[in-house]
Amino acid sequence: MKRLLVTGASGFLGSRIIEYYQDRYEICAPSHTDMDITDKEKVAAVLCEFKPHMVVHSAAISDVGMCEREPERSWKINVDGSRNIAEASAKVRAKCLVCSSDQVYFGSQARGPHKEEEDVVPLNVYGREKLLAEEECLRRNPECVILRLSWMYDTRTLKEGEHGDFFRTLAQRLRTSEDLSYPVNDVRGITDVNEVVRKLERCMEIKGGVYNFGSSNDRNTYETVLVMFEELGWDTARLKKDEDSFGASPRDISMDQDKLKKSGIIFPSTVESLVRNMRDILLLNNN
Ligand SMILES: NC(=O)c1ccc[n+]([C@@H]2O[C@H](COP(=O)([O-])OP(=O)(O)OC[C@H]3O[C@@H](n4cnc5c(N)ncnc54)[C@H](OP(=O)(O)O)[C@@H]3O)[C@@H](O)[C@H]2O)c1
Repeated sequence: MKRLLVTGASGFLGSRIIEYYQDRYEICAPSHTDMDITDKEKVAAVLCEFKPHMVVHSAAISDVGMCEREPERSWKINVDGSRNIAEASAKVRAKCLVCSSDQVYFGSQARGPHKEEEDVVPLNVYGREKLLAEEECLRRNPECVILRLSWMYDTRTLKEGEHGDFFRTLAQRLRTSEDLSYPVNDVRGITDVNEVVRKLERCMEIKGGVYNFGSSNDRNTYETVLVMFEELGWDTARLKKDEDSFGASPRDISMDQDKLKKSGIIFPSTVESLVRNMRDILLLNNN
């Protein structure tokens, strides 16, 4: 059995990786207290002992607001911690997959869908940390596969207390009679986390470098929900445009999929996945 080490295993993505791969890999999933990724020696020792074939590095301060409030702490974790993982992976010759973010494109002069080789100047602390982490990881370990993830969701809650997401928030709001308002000034891919999890194994075979890794979406969030409602035959009267969010600096962090497709990895579009998942939930609830 091949060995897989996952950082951030208690998190939203990490817990789903463990669930999906547990029968097919021997897994090491050190908790934050077992292996603080900012502790370089500890990271090296854990990887040296377990000798993974593949490492998925998902540990991070993923809360954008928290990074703004605590830049020093988040820098240590998101940049220094990532570098430690990439370096230790290189020493044990493990293929290292590093979770980055579409937020690196926020502030980019170019219009979306953005390509990996574009010059980027991220606007927020989180985006800057992720970008620097990408560069540091590739410098220490050129075989690293950097995954620029988009906004991920699941239809189910795996663990009490995990952070919310687009799909479950929408599903919850649908049960109320309130208006549903979504930003018109935000264009971004929204991806089923299970698609991400299933495709990770394929990344073992791709060349080191940066990859956009998620569903394509050229619609703003309001239009995304509108099209979803139309496809499902739902009344769109409840949908309202939120003109304020990102009004001062409209955001388009949608990602181009060409490089990933050339590596044989194809995600369904954001709307396609959302509609399919919503239909599955409705079927489940009706049975
Ligand atoms: N969720 C999204 O939509 C999204 C979108 C784009 C990119 N990403 C990126 O994808 C990755 C996974 O995101 P996520 O949503 O699963 O994050 P998450 O739910 O916030 O989980 C983060 C994980 O990191 C661990 N962690 C934090 N500091 C650590 C440290 N110093 N040492 C060891 N572990 C530490 C946390 O453990 P404790 O809770 O015990 O501290 C937790 O298990 C992150 O890199 C994130 O930036 C996520």
